[in-house]
Amino acid sequence: MTIRTTLSDELGIEHPIYAFTVHKEVAAAVSRAGGLGVLGALRFSPEELEEELTWIDEHVDGKPYGVDVVMPAAYAGADISDPDQLLQQLQSMIPEEHRRFVEGVLEQHGVPPLPDGEQVRELLGWTDATARPQVDIALSHPICLLANALGPPPKDIVGQAHRRGVKMAELIGKVEQALAQVEVGVDVIVAPGTEAAGHTGEVSSLVLWPDVVDAVHPRPVLAAGGIGTGRQMAAALALGTQGAWTGSIWLTVEEADVPDIVRRKLFAAGSRDTVRTRAWTGKPARLLRTAWTDAWDDPANPKPLQMPLQFFLTAEATHRIFRAENEQLIGMPVGQIVSRMNELRKTQDVVTEMARECEETIARLQTMVSALVGRGSSPPS
Ligand SMILES: Cc1cc2nc3c(=O)[nH]c(=O)nc-3n(C[C@H](O)[C@H](O)[C@H](O)COP(=O)(O)O)c2cc1C
Repeated sequence: MTIRTTLSDELGIEHPIYAFTVHKEVAAAVSRAGGLGVLGALRFSPEELEEELTWIDEHVDGKPYGVDVVMPAAYAGADISDPDQLLQQLQSMIPEEHRRFVEGVLEQHGVPPLPDGEQVRELLGWTDATARPQVDIALSHPICLLANALGPPPKDIVGQAHRRGVKMAELIGKVEQALAQVEVGVDVIVAPGTEAAGHTGEVSSLVLWPDVVDAVHPRPVLAAGGIGTGRQMAAALALGTQGAWTGSIWLTVEEADVPDIVRRKLFAAGSRDTVRTRAWTGKPARLLRTAWTDAWDDPANPKPLQMPLQFFLTAEATHRIFRAENEQLIGMPVGQIVSRMNELRKTQDVVTEMARECEETIARLQTMVSALVGRGSSPPS
């Protein structure tokens, strides 16, 4: 028995499990296990992305996979298309008060400066200018899905994907945003409830998923936010979605290159240890709660800047925190499902176990219906 949906059949995958990850080893392992690995391109330069995708091509055993980019529809400096000019412009927009605040938090927690000569790239794929080269590279590889966040994506990007036979997906946080995707021809709507890691809206998964399914019908919707088990996946399917788009759970698999100190913090965290904050990028995103997020969320301190300035302002600080493995400040995007991420597992086991539990759950529910009918009552309509 396997769970199939129209979308999973069209994409040629065995299980309707979609895995966002920034680790190529995880993306390839998910696809090999029968799900769809989707590599987040954000952190890579065009040259690095080319290398990552070539590696995946060589390790995915011909199975389908996807790529995720971030092309925000609105951000500071959106009118500038030259990346160097954009960098300069953004530099000049960061207030001195914010720079001093960041340095103060790092000093307070004993985080040393970078060694001489070590540099951090501040601006990755957060803008149209920096994401377009990533899209070109992604579409030159045999991907089956191109996902975008914070859109809607530019219409020409949707057109490019379609000409290559690639489906376009977009992440949304509310029904109005889902409808805007339909307007520009997006094929698959990914609906992360507020529980999700990373950028997320205010509406919970249980409410968001069926609302979006009904609003964009017959477009397929993938459920995201809070899915870490087959039972949760079965609930997502019961609400009319065509599969589970997952992110957090791939942080605690063997194949993910996550520092031990972060793994330990994730294993120890409960569902109330995350926070939706503007501290990461300037737009609300769910992260592990740390002294860093607390500092930004304290009303007495400067407010996070607009996207992409906040990421730009904090990129070096994040690098220094990770370099120093600072216990209080270190963290990362993670959703409320962190409560179930308590041990290191193999990617293949996570996929197989989730698919199996989902199938068992649906079979169990089926027997409940039969039992009810057998007793002469009918299930609620
Ligand atoms: C570490 C991390 C980084 C993320 N970065 C992105 C990103 O760059 N682009 C994106 O579309 N989604 C990103 N997400 C969100 C995922 O695509 C997904 O919507 C979310 O993780 C689903 O909810 P879950 O974490 O409860 O499974 C990220 C998630 C994690 C865990």
